[in-house]
Amino acid sequence: MFRKIAISAISALALMSGAALAAGAEGHIEDVAFAHEGPFGTFDKNQLQRGLQVFTEVCSGCHGMKFVPIRTLADEGGPELPADQVRAYAASLDEVELPGGEARPREWTDKFPSRSGEGMGPDLSLMAKARAGFHGPYGTGISQLVNGIGGPEYIYSILTGYTGETKEEAGTTFYENHAFPGGWIAMPPPLSDDQVTYADGHPATLHHMAEDVSAFLMWTAEPKMMARKQMGFVAVTFLILLSTLLYLTNKRLWAGIKGKTHA
Ligand code: HEC
Repeated sequence: MFRKIAISAISALALMSGAALAAGAEGHIEDVAFAHEGPFGTFDKNQLQRGLQVFTEVCSGCHGMKFVPIRTLADEGGPELPADQVRAYAASLDEVELPGGEARPREWTDKFPSRSGEGMGPDLSLMAKARAGFHGPYGTGISQLVNGIGGPEYIYSILTGYTGETKEEAGTTFYENHAFPGGWIAMPPPLSDDQVTYADGHPATLHHMAEDVSAFLMWTAEPKMMARKQMGFVAVTFLILLSTLLYLTNKRLWAGIKGKTHA
């Protein structure tokens, strides 16, 4: 009896501390069903193209992507833009500054521009892998096994997590945001309904744009995800086959000896 009470008291405490953790530093992260999730999930090429459009028209004003080569926009498994479009896109971006103070047009073999200075945000190249959206249960991160680490969900939740409240602190404006750890972020809400006009006619609500740009940033962070999954599938299939053959060989090799002990 006493043991039962002690155990339930301990589990109640664990629950409470878990809840406190969840409500404290960590923000609220929405789960989004992305096309690239699961062992056979693949990136949705059209979604990546829309995400690129949102990044270019909105985010790139304050965020760089200095680790992403522009030419990869044409790669299989990515946005798969035609090569001539990728070249034209590269030429439309900021020029590349040369050491002597001169500049030359950006080529598709260059990377995306970087951003620094007052009011600029962190580089987004790897953001979808640098942040985890899911931490539970009780901070063990076990849900990540099923749901992934939740990087794109984190970005989606930041973009859609504004409450509209603001505050001034030391000359900086902060915006209340449910998803951002601490609850206040220095980034002004970047997206609102119909901010971009999608080339493919897709509806451009806040939620669609946030989903598309988050999927796009997952691709920039892990452009070879599809090749990795395919390779994994082949490897697992091969291992299953190999194990079956080894099992049968083992049975056959020992058949004579094992048979004798029975006889
Ligand atoms: C007006 C400039 C501006 C624009 C436009 C902008 N951001 Fe930001 N962003 C910032 C700043 C500044 C921060 C740093 C906020 C902080 O640390 O409080 C930030 C932070 C972020 C973070 C959080 C990073 C972290 O540390 O967890 C993400 C994710 C992000 N931005 C994504 C985007 C996306 C996606 C877009 C386009 C839809 C975008 N931003 C548009 C200025 C901007």
